[in-house]
Amino acid sequence: MQIITKIAELDYVLSKYRNQNKIIGFVPTMGALHLGHISLINASNKDCNITICSIFVNPTQFNDKKDLERYPKTPEKDAKLLKDAGCSILFMPEVDEMYPETDTRIFDFGSIDKILDGKFRPGHFNGVAQIVSKLFFAVKPNKAYFGSKDFQQVLVVKNLVKQLNLPIEIIACPILREQDGLAMSSRNTLLSKDEREAAKIIPEIMLTIAAHKSNNLSIKQIADLVNKKVSTNSMYKLDYFVIANADSFEEITEWEQATNYVALIACFVGKVRLIDNVVF
Ligand code: PAF
Repeated sequence: MQIITKIAELDYVLSKYRNQNKIIGFVPTMGALHLGHISLINASNKDCNITICSIFVNPTQFNDKKDLERYPKTPEKDAKLLKDAGCSILFMPEVDEMYPETDTRIFDFGSIDKILDGKFRPGHFNGVAQIVSKLFFAVKPNKAYFGSKDFQQVLVVKNLVKQLNLPIEIIACPILREQDGLAMSSRNTLLSKDEREAAKIIPEIMLTIAAHKSNNLSIKQIADLVNKKVSTNSMYKLDYFVIANADSFEEITEWEQATNYVALIACFVGKVRLIDNVVF
């Protein structure tokens, strides 16, 4: 596996593959890799001739400076995991390489980036769009792979490639879960032992929603149950729990308002903010 830190070198190396019409797969990450990320590398390896992974903790998508400082960093472990998974190129630029100047671009994704994480993390999706577009310009992949845990991010990125007319296929891969159901996330490593135990409440909530629907509970009744569950322990702070139409991404209050559903949650466990979703 080749490790590259400069855009010009990446372009030089990748142009050889482009000239041979090789299919280039790209997995953008912020590092602290886990099996969820490796499943994206595996998916890319299956579909593409060459897989590039980027590790870049993007400052512009953090609305909270402390969150950026706390973000886990495990570069050596990440490089080994990627090499073992058969990744061909690891792109690890410094901040100055990606942002030689302040990025002043403002994106508009309509309602997609104004609700949920867009509302609770102001500027977050604009920062995601800034870095993902820069990475797409640098890598020029044929396909790019994202985890479905970040459901709203996938919608933003799909919209981004449309807005910029980029010929990149965006592939959303399934959420991978720990044995107790907790969605894999780099942030899980920030949880203390007690917080990790307490975090089980999130999959407990999320993996029973479809059953609640089958048992004829209304959306309001489910939301009340969730609020009651998280109020049992002061370690939890719920940012949101909503059920939305999985096709239009509009929040719904009655089951009749959709045929495909997605339930989404963002909840602090201690200082660690975790998100999860289920489509049903
Ligand atoms: O999902 C992430 O890890 C990040 O938001 C991404 C897509 C790598 C952009 O920084």
